[in-house]
Amino acid sequence: MAELVYGKISSQESIRLEETYGAHNYHPLPVVIAKGKGPFVWDPEGNQYYDFLSAYSAVNQGHCHPVIIQALIDQARELTLTSRAFFNNKLGEYEKFITEFFGYEMVLPMNTGAEAVETAMKLSRKWGYQKKGIPENEAILIFAENNFHGRTISIVSASTDPTAYKEYGPFTPGIEIIPYNDTAALEKILAEKGDKVAAFIVEPIQGEAGVYVPDAGYLKKCLDICHQHNVLFVADEVQTGIARTGRLLASDWEDIHPDIVILGKAISGGVLPVSAVLSSREIMMCIKPGEHGSTFGGFPLACAVAKAALEVIRDEHLTEKAEKLGKIFRAEMEKIDSPMIELVRGKGLLNAVIIKPTNGVEAWDVCVKMKENGVLAKPTHDHIIRFAPPLVITEKELMDAIKRIKDTILSFS
Ligand SMILES: Cc1ncc(COP(=O)(O)O)c(C=O)c1O
Repeated sequence: MAELVYGKISSQESIRLEETYGAHNYHPLPVVIAKGKGPFVWDPEGNQYYDFLSAYSAVNQGHCHPVIIQALIDQARELTLTSRAFFNNKLGEYEKFITEFFGYEMVLPMNTGAEAVETAMKLSRKWGYQKKGIPENEAILIFAENNFHGRTISIVSASTDPTAYKEYGPFTPGIEIIPYNDTAALEKILAEKGDKVAAFIVEPIQGEAGVYVPDAGYLKKCLDICHQHNVLFVADEVQTGIARTGRLLASDWEDIHPDIVILGKAISGGVLPVSAVLSSREIMMCIKPGEHGSTFGGFPLACAVAKAALEVIRDEHLTEKAEKLGKIFRAEMEKIDSPMIELVRGKGLLNAVIIKPTNGVEAWDVCVKMKENGVLAKPTHDHIIRFAPPLVITEKELMDAIKRIKDTILSFS
């Protein structure tokens, strides 16, 4: 048995414990992570890997970033949780910081991405009844096909993926689905039902669907169509936000200012579950005291960590870095001469390689072999591998990881 370098439990035993005592609601790659630093993670036996998933883009600032961890420790010594029954001396400071950081008037803090999406759905409905004058209980929310916004009943009510919604019904009413990247479909539904539509909720790039990048101009056109019909344009930037795509928000690629922005994941650099809904004063004030919240939402520890995590994005120029390194990554992937590579797509450091199953080898097999070569990534759907390393990765490290990815793919041909 290999000697343990990190922790007291081996990879094999860790997997056995998870499989025995934990619900089987995920299908992880057979690797156990015991330590992380920057773009690297290590298993208990000390093997080092590049993390090319970054916890689904939550660890944009790299694992255990020292500035964020210091903020966590400092705040944990002072105060962690108060609930919102009282004011605390961290929340207001953080709210001023995050709203100025993203150019919005107000924020509603939550914890997970799904909670922030739920919040945006509720906020949109409130606005629809109070400001737009939709008759009560008739508001419609529009979503796009192949979306991924989280796992609650209301959110999966908008899903078109049977794995997400099957046997979880009955579902939340008042939801309509249109094709993604199709402005004509949005125009059509708003011409028919616009009076009752409160919001169109959309991912600027569909991450879980396989890093599906819409046509240039799509988001701007959608926002314009929404505004023609007095409908809110809501951008779910939980995965695309916080520098990942080479802009602070993916919406910035089209210079648009969504009415509501949903953020999560990398807001805390992967240190705590922190999410946020940003909007204008007019929209946000539709929710009154007692009408929405969460015990942990906006807790002092989260405020300190999130502020530090956003400062790291700014101070280390991670947005610019994501854009530059993303171009290199895609160019290098396109150079790989293998029949297995069907397409390379993405923006910044959110990329995907579409794998054509060849001689019985599928995306999963490629990921298992890549792991043996020191790079961790995971298929999304059967044939797409998403590559999203921490944005702190250096160019030299990126080139080393690219070589390992290339060698893996070429080893199958
Ligand atoms: C676009 C988008 N929205 C919402 C979520 C849900 O976030 P969470 O898993 O924190 O609930 C995700 C998670 O992957 C996401 O990609």
